[in-house]
Amino acid sequence: MPDASPETVEQLPTPSELSEVKGWFFPVDQVLFDWFLTRQTDRDEPGDLLEVGAYMGKSAIFTGSYRREGETFTVCDLFDSPGEDDANAAEMQRSYSTLTQRTFEANYLSFHDELPVVLQGLSSMVPDHVKAGSCRFVHVDASHLYEHVHGDIQDARELLLPHGIVALDDFRAEHCPGVAAATWEAVTSGGLHAICITGTKFYGTWGDPTAVREELLAFLAGREDIWHEVQSVAGAPLIRTSGKKAVAPAQPRSRHTKKTPAVPAQPSAAAPVRPAAQAPKAAPAPRRRSPLRRLAVNVLPPFITKAARRLMK
Ligand SMILES: C[S@@+](CC[C@H](N)C(=O)[O-])C[C@H]1O[C@@H](n2cnc3c(N)ncnc32)[C@H](O)[C@@H]1O
Repeated sequence: MPDASPETVEQLPTPSELSEVKGWFFPVDQVLFDWFLTRQTDRDEPGDLLEVGAYMGKSAIFTGSYRREGETFTVCDLFDSPGEDDANAAEMQRSYSTLTQRTFEANYLSFHDELPVVLQGLSSMVPDHVKAGSCRFVHVDASHLYEHVHGDIQDARELLLPHGIVALDDFRAEHCPGVAAATWEAVTSGGLHAICITGTKFYGTWGDPTAVREELLAFLAGREDIWHEVQSVAGAPLIRTSGKKAVAPAQPRSRHTKKTPAVPAQPSAAAPVRPAAQAPKAAPAPRRRSPLRRLAVNVLPPFITKAARRLMK
């Protein structure tokens, strides 16, 4: 038995729903991940899944629900190992000092039977472990420094199949101009076609964007909870969305959940994920009147009852 006093026993998380997992993965992006990944399933588009920058697993848990039989889901994160350079180490210390791989794994296993392939280390190690031209979806959400993100985007290009989709996080956040620089550089001189943007993520492809853009526009036209418009950027249409009121799709189910959720957790081609059903509002409990109040209402003239009601409030 391990020699561990109560103070040294690590409390691993047991989230009962995805919202309890710390991280940054907002409903509008969940809707878009769901839409892109389900579309790939509907079209039988093959390929593996990759996430670079997993933190405590919020987006990885969600993405892992779309892994089909025979596919590999790989995640890469530094977790508690040091960054490559001083700037990356400072970024890690400032933003993610409580992160551990064990926490990620405990979170992930609360929702899935198996872990993804977990690579602990710098994102630059990914091409040594994931085959070129093998992925259908790559989520880049690791370092915010230009040099790293630029490399991550170049790797994504190599790893994705022609129908593959890349999602780039924090491409327009105030605190990380390096991500913006790397993202738009990939669009203006790296062959990346922008499809759409949310408040936090950019979605694009190095394949032909025409059909996917048109289908996404048709989908968004039917979503009253997500505002959108089309702008022309660098000579191509770009769908801009705003999803502050977006209704998240069905969430992966945790083994720690006590109640049965209304919607099945595992999305599939046969049963694509739809926005989670809103729980019906409970009917208000009937008001109970005291016996004295009931007697007063029944036997006294209305003007006296009114005065009595005011006194009994
Ligand atoms: C913004 S968080 C990821 C958020 C996560 N996708 C979610 O949904 O909550 C960024 C993660 O990238 C990792 N990271 C930072 N620099 C990295 C690098 N150079 N290589 C690999 N991972 C890195 C950090 O450890 C951190 O967990």
